[in-house]
This record gives sequence, structure tokens and C-alpha cells, in this order.
Amino acid sequence: CGIIARIGEGDAITKLVTGLENLEYRGYDSAGVAVQNGSGISVYKRSGQISELKDAIVGSVPKGNVGIGHTRWSTHGPPTDENAHPHTSETENVAVVHNGIIENYTELKERLESDGHEFTSDTDTEVIPHLFEYYLQDAPSIEDAFRKTIGDLEGSYAVAALVDGVHAIYAARQGSPLILGLDNDEYYLASDVPAFLDHTDRVVYFEDGDIAVLEPNGVTMTDIEGNMVTRDVERIDWDPEDAGKGGYEHYMLKEINTQPNALTNTIEGRVQDGEVTLEDFPEGTFEDVDDVQFVACGTSYHAALYGQQLLNQTGIRAQAFRASEYVDSATGSITENTLVIAVTQSGETADTLGALRGAKERGARTVTVTNVMGSTAAREADDALFIRAGPEIGVAATKTFSSQAVMLSLLSLRLAEDIEAVSAPDDQAELLRELQKLPEYVQTVLDSTAAKRIASRYTGSEAFFFIGRGLNNAVAKEGALKFKEITYEHAEGFASGELKHGPLALVTPDTPVFALFNGDKDRKTLQNAEEAQARGAPIVSVAHADHPAEKISDDFLEIPNTHSMWSGLLANVQLQLVSYYAAKNLGRPIDKPRNLAKSVTVE
Ligand code: G6P
Repeated sequence: CGIIARIGEGDAITKLVTGLENLEYRGYDSAGVAVQNGSGISVYKRSGQISELKDAIVGSVPKGNVGIGHTRWSTHGPPTDENAHPHTSETENVAVVHNGIIENYTELKERLESDGHEFTSDTDTEVIPHLFEYYLQDAPSIEDAFRKTIGDLEGSYAVAALVDGVHAIYAARQGSPLILGLDNDEYYLASDVPAFLDHTDRVVYFEDGDIAVLEPNGVTMTDIEGNMVTRDVERIDWDPEDAGKGGYEHYMLKEINTQPNALTNTIEGRVQDGEVTLEDFPEGTFEDVDDVQFVACGTSYHAALYGQQLLNQTGIRAQAFRASEYVDSATGSITENTLVIAVTQSGETADTLGALRGAKERGARTVTVTNVMGSTAAREADDALFIRAGPEIGVAATKTFSSQAVMLSLLSLRLAEDIEAVSAPDDQAELLRELQKLPEYVQTVLDSTAAKRIASRYTGSEAFFFIGRGLNNAVAKEGALKFKEITYEHAEGFASGELKHGPLALVTPDTPVFALFNGDKDRKTLQNAEEAQARGAPIVSVAHADHPAEKISDDFLEIPNTHSMWSGLLANVQLQLVSYYAAKNLGRPIDKPRNLAKSVTVE
């Protein structure tokens, strides 16, 4: 879900709606705004995308220079108009938007109901405005009533609230991101910077427990007891242009096409004289590490699988965990010499944060690999490494996967340099030279047209399979995830050798198999591809020119010939393009696939 709020000179509505459009990737089941102008709070909310909300506002544009807005990814209750935010109190003198989950909402609801409050939605959020209204009856001040309200909530939340007739926004954070944006004569609140990046790059990150009151002439921040807290003002180095579509039809296409630049940024300054230098990590910093555990979800999990494979190849014990499974399955194996690496584009995924916290509690050393400075993961982990890919808006992650995989490769080389029991790869100098050329190689892939043609040829097939071995096993899984996310077609990724142990039963002439080759045990993958071909499946190979796979393939996606450490990333770019064009042929809403959200802040 995404929150936006704004107070300042002039009407708020346009800035709220644009803010919501910039945040739509965080959820698009329903959206709403509340604006107040001293004579009541006007609330507009609609199920569906923000365009529906805009249609509802046209004709009766609400006036007022303070307001809040929300775009929702449903947790409690279906995406109906009633369940959309903002939620209001009984007398409609309080309006609230909220991200996260109020765990004790049933209890609070019962308490309020016995006091005569009537609820109109299925959401957990609705208890907040009711509670706020309840405390407003006899608290000494509005702030005091707000603090009492927040004090009753258990769970995770970022909250922004309006009170009728009061020229202020009340806000609080516990476990869900909330950022204050400071412009000359106006203030913003948002769950993510792109919401207000058009207006300002000066921000303050809320810490858990912070409560703020935004008024036209200033912002005060306190803790739950009302003691003042001070937070640093930071500058964001993202260009507002970065958050736009830049002439591309979709954000996803833009993000695929800007990978050379993203990768250049990821690598910059991190390779010097044949060695890896990582800003905050002096030489020897990882010498005590015995084993590595990765925690991540979705695409980031596939980048983690890439990292796991690299470390294991170097001789460092490593395992990638699905973050949601981690605390139950792995934490028994943590020692003080375990390095836990949380891989998360947004730095806000609740499952990943839960795993990170579990690891910390059990004494592990933690590092996060993330794209977002100031994100919760960046602040909670002992150290953060930024992939510097720039804002990613398309729900399906593309450029951030490439940058994460490169960042993890650099980290794994660094670990190999530091840990005495293992040694750096013999060809390290060569593979780092090839890394410097990676952006150029990606550009070569982007300039080819085969992916578009192949997507058209196979659109409409019954299912799509992706196979690869070693590092390409991670890429095959990512290729399938991307494909299913945006085309809604059935797609699966397997370790090549595993195909014959079950999935082969699904293979028919109507199920193309994408086989990925990177020079590592390719002969076996070739054999696995032929086993599928013998059952009639068309084989689409992804490999460098003149690879033996070209001869047996029905179709061929060429990638530049490079070190096996990087070639999977080039194959992945080809697969991103295939997914994109297949989804386009099918007329799917590519940037906003149904039911998904980019940043899932609930477990
Ligand atoms: C959501 C998104 C996925 C993403 C995953 C992890 O489920 O839809 O595309 O890979 O979260 O996100 P993170 O920000 O932690 O990398």
C-alpha cells in the first residue's frame, strides 16, 4: 500500500493524486483521498485503479490545502469502495490512511462497539479513526488524543490522519515506512520517495515510534510519551526524471532498457586493480565468517540463489532461504560467525524484515543488499550495500535483479579475499575485466530483435518451461517468475537435470522449453533439452553464437560470449524481453499485474 499526505499553500488535491499515481506500484486495488478545508473533510474513494478515483473527483474537485491519500493492496477485506482508504470516524471528523496491519484490531473493535461505535468496513484500519475520535472527546489536546490512539495499536503501521477544522496532519510510524518531504512552503508524507520527488529531494526518515504533527509553519516530532525527537534531514540523489517513463511505453520496458546504466552505477568504484573494494568494508572485514545465509523473497530470492551458487563454488558454505520460511527453518543453524544477507530491492518487504530481525536476535552479523537508501532494511541491518539501480516502478523487478546479482557477485569475491580458508578464483582479474564490459554486453542484447520475434511465435502456448544448471538454475527460475507475473501464463523454472524427474510429464509440442547455456556443464543441459525435444517440445536456446546448442534448437537467443559468472545475467535480459513482448501481445497491464504489489509490507 502507499500513503501520501500534503500540507502547504494552495489546493492539495492535484499533488495528492499525482503522488498516488507515483505510488501506484505499491498497490492498485483501490485508492482514495481526503481533503479538508475548514468546513468538513471531503473523502473520495474508489475500488480499482487511480484513474477510477480521478473520474470520481472530476466535476467536484475538493478544495483545501491539507489532505491525505492512499493506494491499497488488500489485506483485510476485498477491494471495494467501502474498504478503500481513507477511513473515517462515526461523525466523520477524523480521516485516516494506514499501511501495515493492526494485529489487535478485533479487540479494539469490540471495545469501541460496546461503546456504541458502528463500523462500515471489513478493514483493520477503521479502528484508528474511531479510536482517535473516542480519545478526542476528553484528551487535553489533539496531539495527546493521537498519541493515546497510537499507544493502543499493536502491529505494524504508518498512519496519517486529519481532524476536521484543524490545519494539521497527524502521523506515526511503527514497522511500515514513512518519509517526510520538506519543500519551501509545504510538507509531504509518503511511504516512498517517488511520491513527492517532483517537488523536493529533502527528506526525513521516520524511525519506529516517531509521532509527528505537520502544520503550515513547521513539523514537530515526538516519541509516544511526547518527548521531542530530532531527525536528520537527508538529500535524495534520485533525479525526478528517473521516476518517469522517459518516452517508453511501460516502466518495465524502460527499466529493462536502462540496465546498462544501472549496472555501471552498481559497479562504479567497486573494482580497483583487479580487486573488489566495498565502501564500508575494509580489508579483512569478513575474515571471521564461517557461513552465509541469504534471506529474500520473489525476484530478490533468485538473486540470492545466484549468490548462494557463487559462494558455494568458491568454497564458502552458503544457503538462500525464502524469507517467510527462515525463522522457522534456519535460525537454529546461526552462530556468531554466520553472515546473514538480506536481499531486498525496496528494503521494506515484511517477510524479509522478519527474517532479518530473527537473524539479529540470534546473534548473526547482518548485511542488507538493497536499492533504497533510508529503507527499513538498510537501517536495521548492521551494514548496507546499495545496488544504485535508481527507482524501479514496474512491479516486475528487472534492472534490480541484474544489479543485485552483480552486487552479490562482488560481495562473494570480497568474502573469498577475506576468508583465509578459501581463495579467490584463479581467473579473478579476467572475470572482473569482463564485469566492466557487462553494461556493453547488455546493450548488445537490448539491440537484438530475436526476443520480440520469439515471444510472438510462442504466445498462446499451453505452458512455458525454463531450464538451467548452476548459476543458470537461478536465472531459469527468475525467467519463469517474470513470465508468469506479467503474462498470467503457466511458467516454471527448473534445474536442467531435474526436468526428467517429474516435470517432463508436462512437456508436449505445445510447451516451449527455454534452455540456458553458460559454458558450465553445457553438455548435460544440452542432453536435457534434447530429452524435452524428443517429446515434441520446441527448444529455445539462450547461448553465445556458435554454441553447439544452436544446431539442435528450434529457436535461438544469442548473447555475447563472456565469463560464466556473468552470462546468466545476459540470458536473463533476453528472457525479460521475451516476457515483456509476450505480455504485450496478450494485452496485459504490464506495469501493474493483477493481484500483485511491488512492495509487500505484510507477512
Ligand atoms: C513483491 C514483488 C516482487 C518482489 C518481492 C520482493 O512480492 O511483487 O516483484 O520480488 O516483493 O521485493 P523486495 O523489495 O524485497 O526485493
